[in-house]
Amino acid sequence: MRETNNRSNNPCGIWDDDGSADVLPGSAARPRTSEPFSAILERAVDRRGLLKGAAFGATLVIAQAVLLEREGLKAEDKPVAADPRRRLRFRTVPPGNEQEVMVPPNYRVHVVLAWGDPLFPGAPDFDVSNQTSQAQARQFGFNADLVLWYPLPKSILDRVYTTHYLPEEVSTALGKAYPTLKKKSSERALVVVNHEYTKARDMFPDYDKATYPTLEQTRVEIEAHGFSIVELVLDERGQWRFNIASPFNRRVTGSTPMEITGPLRGHPLMQTLGNPAGTEVRGCLNNCAGGKTPWGTVLTCEENFDQYFANFDAIPSEYLRTRELNERIPAESEASERLWERHVGRFDCGSDPNEYNRFGYIVEIDPYNPLDKPKKRTALGRFKHEGAAATVTRDGRVAIYSGDDAGFEYVYKFVTRERYEEGNRLNNLNLLDKGTLYVARFDAGVTKGDEMGTGEWLPVVWESGNALDRAGFASQAEVLINTRGAADILGATPMDRPEDIEVSPVNGHVYIALTNNSKRSGDDLNEANPRGPNPHGHIVELIEDGDDAGSLTFAWNILVKCGDPSVPEHETRFGDIADPVESGVSPISDPDNLVHDDDGNLWIATDGQFFSGDDGFGQNDGIFAVPVEGPERGLLRQFLSGVPGGEVCGPEFSGDNRTFYCAIQHPNDGDAFEKIWPMTNHLGEANAVSRPSLIAVREKDGRKIGY
Ligand code: FEO
Ligand code: CA
Ligand code: CA
Ligand code: CA
Repeated sequence: MRETNNRSNNPCGIWDDDGSADVLPGSAARPRTSEPFSAILERAVDRRGLLKGAAFGATLVIAQAVLLEREGLKAEDKPVAADPRRRLRFRTVPPGNEQEVMVPPNYRVHVVLAWGDPLFPGAPDFDVSNQTSQAQARQFGFNADLVLWYPLPKSILDRVYTTHYLPEEVSTALGKAYPTLKKKSSERALVVVNHEYTKARDMFPDYDKATYPTLEQTRVEIEAHGFSIVELVLDERGQWRFNIASPFNRRVTGSTPMEITGPLRGHPLMQTLGNPAGTEVRGCLNNCAGGKTPWGTVLTCEENFDQYFANFDAIPSEYLRTRELNERIPAESEASERLWERHVGRFDCGSDPNEYNRFGYIVEIDPYNPLDKPKKRTALGRFKHEGAAATVTRDGRVAIYSGDDAGFEYVYKFVTRERYEEGNRLNNLNLLDKGTLYVARFDAGVTKGDEMGTGEWLPVVWESGNALDRAGFASQAEVLINTRGAADILGATPMDRPEDIEVSPVNGHVYIALTNNSKRSGDDLNEANPRGPNPHGHIVELIEDGDDAGSLTFAWNILVKCGDPSVPEHETRFGDIADPVESGVSPISDPDNLVHDDDGNLWIATDGQFFSGDDGFGQNDGIFAVPVEGPERGLLRQFLSGVPGGEVCGPEFSGDNRTFYCAIQHPNDGDAFEKIWPMTNHLGEANAVSRPSLIAVREKDGRKIGY
């Protein structure tokens, strides 16, 4: 009763990646975008059952305040922090169903890049009716997700503008400067954006289920995956502009050659008809969240890779071991949803089964080196990776936390064998191939039911005669391919869909977004996942013993139990806030991507709020900020509201925290040709289709975000 082989075109929508269907797309609960806000609020208030008992008075006050604020009649700052230096002052954005991205009144939103924008001189302008794979390979990809910001010190990297590669001595100089540069202001930056997945009916105006996919549609979709690396320049108006002339601009797609590194490199289970050596693979797929290493490389994660591969049930008997090792993470039993296997044989498990073993990894790439070949780091295990949060242990090794985003799956940590050397880029670029993978067991601790406890990191390591050996694994290589199966045997704790993970730069604590789990029942609750079903998700704070990321034991507690604090049935918790409604806490559901600001406040992006719960939560996805320390710990407030049908992804800050970035993924999902966001392209012309986009948010006077 684990992960089902559920398939849908929306790997992040709440109606599918946990295999559930809270509300199916196209049903009556689709966003009612033409409704006036007052009607939506009235409906939401009604649905949340607030018009009763003691909650009524406070609720009405909030409802009126929201309406007044919307109408521009009144606006109040909500919270007051004890420490004014860390007080988030932004005006709370109310939940809504607007067709535009909403931010506090003194903030401005700018679309930096949208699907199809040309990334290289000579690349064609976006023309939705005339798409080709050659064009898409040179344009911004579809469904933007992860966003990562990197400083671009021109004084150090000047030579790359003429060499178009990263000379070793320049890389060395960059390595020395990077630890201090990454938190400073800069007028140039590299931004990395994942392109998670494609959805044909929102991409092709001539989409016809009967003829889909043509060969060229398949090729376009493959090129629309992967990620983009782009140079942005801060202009005199305080807006980040894309620099099309930059040698750093790059597209990595579903067909880009990548190295397979680490323990699985060259292993027989990685050998395919197309690559008998088992050392190189074409492309990465379903890249969702990710993270930055301390040495300035990108970690991008392959999440729902299973949905691209067909005919799992037709794996030939001579590949029996491949089939056995994938029973916990099977591909489609017959045809895949996108049907790429009709045109590209490697996606057919019946013809080249081991190709499937070559997806599901964390991929590292050096964004500063335009010629760097991406590397699939197999030592970090194979599962539906979401997020890769890196930090340094007490003894100088590197720890990377990653979640497996599916219902009842696990939280992992990888610790390198060798030490990180600050400033020594050449050393650090090779750290991730050797180390130990662990999986988390969350224990109840001294008191049951108090939503806190202790835990242990269990080594996912094969040894002769140990439990994994006795369970039938033949080697560490098999353990890495079937990481889930090994973690089952070790007794890891099944979680409510672990999504992004972040380590606070201030207190070093680890924050884990558990987005939801509609399948958890009262029979399979555990201390760290105490609600069944759990339609709204929660956030766990994990504190390594000794504040050491290398520790094998930890303490944990639940920071936020999401939901509407006005609805008692949601059983919410917001840190230490005694009266969340009175304090101005925002309703939130489906926490997904995370980032910290410089002061350690946690910023949260949501995925699927509108459909969350039995009767829907009814609001667009958004961005929320929550202090994690001090008297305001848990005072979670909404900063941004996205657009209908679109999840909000990849929250990220510029080094000086004066720009906030995020991605609007699948805007107007399922209706992308009928409802349009953004309305215009970068030339001010009307868009013919909704376009997943990277956006930047700035305070109008350039203040630090949130203050
Ligand atoms: Fe692609 Fe788990 O979100
Ligand atoms: Ca406990
Ligand atoms: Ca996600
Ligand atoms: Ca993140």
